[in-house]
Amino acid sequence: MTQPGPNADTHAGSFQGRHIGIGITGGIAAYKVCHLVSQLTQFGAAVDVLMTSNARRFVGEATFQALSARPVLCDPWAGPDPSDPQHIRVARRLELLLIAPASMNTIGRLAHGITEDVVTLTAAGIPPGTIPRILAPSMNAAMWIQPSTQRNLKLLQDDGWLVVPPEEGMQACRTNGPGRLPEPESLLKVISDHLA
Ligand SMILES: Cc1cc2nc3c(=O)[nH]c(=O)nc-3n(C[C@H](O)[C@H](O)[C@H](O)COP(=O)(O)O)c2cc1C
Repeated sequence: MTQPGPNADTHAGSFQGRHIGIGITGGIAAYKVCHLVSQLTQFGAAVDVLMTSNARRFVGEATFQALSARPVLCDPWAGPDPSDPQHIRVARRLELLLIAPASMNTIGRLAHGITEDVVTLTAAGIPPGTIPRILAPSMNAAMWIQPSTQRNLKLLQDDGWLVVPPEEGMQACRTNGPGRLPEPESLLKVISDHLA
């Protein structure tokens, strides 16, 4: 497990006993979220990790299971009890949901009410206006400036989603531009600010 970062004292206490959902989708920045989940868990949060099938092409569910010390939800149909769907059970206990990295594809699904994976389905189980629902988009600069991406994010903001803007810089595809997922320490601060 990774060690708490230099600003650990800032966060100590904010997360103790809090129930946080982290939705991970198919973006190259999924690796950064390992550190985020590790830190939240070390600060005492109960972290429910939700992964799309494409997220698992980038980081395996075993990594998040070990870092969160909890089961990882990947398949909405795989619950142990059909009378108590696990995505609804998780949605009900969350105090905040962060989707990071939020892929262009998942943003499109969320904006249009398409819920064929555990991340969008769990998000749909949260009544609007009850808890903070936060998106941290991350993608190649060309994908970021697509009108469809910007249009879908505007729709989601109008629906009450908070959007953490991506950072500019060198990307995995070796272009310079907007689309980088903020570092785990910045995402911790976003979560802490919105849990308060
Ligand atoms: C190597 C590789 C890296 C990718 N990185 C990203 C990315 O950073 N952001 C993104 O939006 N899509 C990225 N994609 C495309 C998504 O993985 C693809 O759209 C996928 O359908 C997303 O599925 P999901 O939203 O259900 O997780 C990448 C694809 C590949 C092959």
